[in-house]
Amino acid sequence: MTDTTVVSVPDSPYAIEVKNVCKSFGPNPVLKNVNLKVRRGKTRVILGPSGSGKTVIMKHMIGLLKPDSGNILVDGVDITTLPHNELLNVRRKFGMVFQQAALFDSMTVGENVSFPLREHSVLSKEAIAEKVREKLGVVDLKNIEHKYPAELSGGMRKRVGLARAIVLEPSIVLYDEPTTGLDPLTTDSVDKMILDASKRLNVTSVVISHDVGSALLVADDIAVIHEGVIVEDVPAKEIRDSTHPFVREFLHTWFRKQ
Ligand SMILES: Nc1ncnc2c1ncn2[C@@H]1O[C@H](COP(=O)(O)OP(=O)(O)OP(=O)(O)O)[C@@H](O)[C@H]1O
Ligand SMILES: [Mg+2]
Repeated sequence: MTDTTVVSVPDSPYAIEVKNVCKSFGPNPVLKNVNLKVRRGKTRVILGPSGSGKTVIMKHMIGLLKPDSGNILVDGVDITTLPHNELLNVRRKFGMVFQQAALFDSMTVGENVSFPLREHSVLSKEAIAEKVREKLGVVDLKNIEHKYPAELSGGMRKRVGLARAIVLEPSIVLYDEPTTGLDPLTTDSVDKMILDASKRLNVTSVVISHDVGSALLVADDIAVIHEGVIVEDVPAKEIRDSTHPFVREFLHTWFRKQ
């Protein structure tokens, strides 16, 4: 065990609840009364075009941004009013996979994956090596600890990024645009990685995307955001039946390009 166990066992069926959140930057309203629930153990996709407010929502979920009004609950705890040290504890529930895998180029894969452990735990060298092996195993990578990021394919780098995100055993994994800029085959392998990770680790996942194909593959629930407003929020299999004009246009545009 690492020293990462945090606050109480949750009663709420939701890992995250975003309630009536408004956020402006200067005169620019970016989130307009956003409501969003993330069911525990499920994969929630937030789909929307560039600039619609997806990353801003995600930053609110981990308390990197505070709403102008409204609340964010993580496992039933309102993080908008938490003191800083308690917020840091809540943040340990999260693992984040960034758009660019954001690995440290000068570190080996092993050093990259073990980085959070070395920062946050007091495990022995051997125990850390074992954890790294285990987490790389979860993302189907073996014996690549000694390699450098530059020696890996884009898909492998994403996998290493996920291994690092889960090394502290988070209960929630956030993916910001995990497939943007990847070729179709690599996109497939990253989608599969998200599905596998969610099953094997039994985590709650939030995936930000503007890729309809990925969303349909990985999501249990899909919300569509347009100019800071959630215009649709349905189980994934119902998204094609949406009657909202923006959602229909967004889906049609995507399918036309395929
Ligand atoms: N720290 C900030 N200060 C000022 N404006 C910001 C800040 N962060 C985001 N914005 C603005 O908020 C809007 C939404 O940004 P956000 O990053 O959430 O978009 P997004 O949906 O994630 O887009 P993309 O798909 O391109 O990543 C944009 O207009 C952006 O310029
Ligand atoms: Mg973004």
